[in-house]
Amino acid sequence: MTTSTQGVFNIGAVRADFPALAREHHPGTPLVYLDNAATTQKPRQVIDELDRYYREYNANVHRGIHLLSEEATAAYEEARLKVRRFIGAASRREVIFTRGTTESLNLVAQAWGRANLGPGDVVLSTVMEHHSNIVPWQILAGEKGFTLRFLSVTPEGKLDLDEYQRILASEPVKLVTVAAVSNVLGTVNPVAEMARLAHAHGALILVDAAQAVPHMALNVQSLDADFLAFSGHKMAGPTGIGVLYARRALLDAMPPWMGGGDMISRVTLTGTTWNELPYKFEAGTPSIAEAIGLGYAVDYLTGLSMEAVHAHERMLTSYALERLAEVPGLTLYGPEADERGAVVAFTVQGIHAHDVAQVLDMHGVAVRAGHHCAQPLHDHLGVAASARASFYLYNTTDEIDALIDGLYAARRTFRI
Ligand SMILES: Cc1ncc(COP(=O)(O)O)c(C=O)c1O
Repeated sequence: MTTSTQGVFNIGAVRADFPALAREHHPGTPLVYLDNAATTQKPRQVIDELDRYYREYNANVHRGIHLLSEEATAAYEEARLKVRRFIGAASRREVIFTRGTTESLNLVAQAWGRANLGPGDVVLSTVMEHHSNIVPWQILAGEKGFTLRFLSVTPEGKLDLDEYQRILASEPVKLVTVAAVSNVLGTVNPVAEMARLAHAHGALILVDAAQAVPHMALNVQSLDADFLAFSGHKMAGPTGIGVLYARRALLDAMPPWMGGGDMISRVTLTGTTWNELPYKFEAGTPSIAEAIGLGYAVDYLTGLSMEAVHAHERMLTSYALERLAEVPGLTLYGPEADERGAVVAFTVQGIHAHDVAQVLDMHGVAVRAGHHCAQPLHDHLGVAASARASFYLYNTTDEIDALIDGLYAARRTFRI
């Protein structure tokens, strides 16, 4: 690994790996891509492997007794092994490929939740969750009659662990489901400590790691997570592929939630037995190219080292918080730099978040505006929408300067 003025790896070489970063936004305006919490750009190492799969060995997996199918199956299963190592799972059987975090969370609700939750049980979530960690539980609660509770968020944008312990001690919580990193506040939640406390009270914990796995070294065993979900497209991989990690004993006991090809051992007209793990939870033709691509994204991140990625992003986030604080009328949401991931949401007094994003877009700066699939959190913050800049391993402090220049331009445009 080389060092640079921008962080702990050679940022010029890293940027050269991502073809989309070289394009112009409008003619003559460079692209400043700061919408990484929504999805990240892809390096040529991933794009090339997707291309190679389709050109050279496109075939269905686990089925054909022919060369191409064997090559596709080997590459698909190799990707599973890469993911297993990356998150420190004990076995490849604990790594289920899904279409993304949303599907992983729904899988837990529909397979584990449907079999284990009923009247009198409590599922404990938080106000800062993405809709994909709220709605599946609301749907299931309506059917199964359990109670869905939400931890509140402190004015600093953090969870209150005292409140957490009080609820665990006084209510029949069966599952805690929490984001490792908020996609709006950027808050890094103390999930290892939350897991310890959940287990001490006989509850399981599901970690939504969509904004964590791409950005920091994470080990499911040291976290002691029972379930953990993430998406490939937020970590330099393709869309349409994600992961559910779950403890083997839980997966063994859970019924499947989707039926179809590959997830069966034997089907008769009167009944079916299930395939072994992980295939019991992978019905139908999976996202083969995408899983292989995710494996190469994992290789790419591992090559840089997650510690280096995290250090680079922390440097960017500290710099962004410092510079954003200079902009008059700007309200920042979430905790200090040392307690947050690479996400910065804000509002600018007198300018709607969509207008902020529009003016930034005119300056080549891509951010997201809206509720970021976290409406309950925005209700809690008392704003309908916010603008959000989110960083990844290829961003630079110059790009944050471009964001700030764009914000001053927005103020001028709206005469504020
Ligand atoms: C914290 C969090 N959870 C879940 C999701 C859903 O991810 P996906 O749309 O890839 O399923 C996101 C995506 O923004 C997220 O940020």
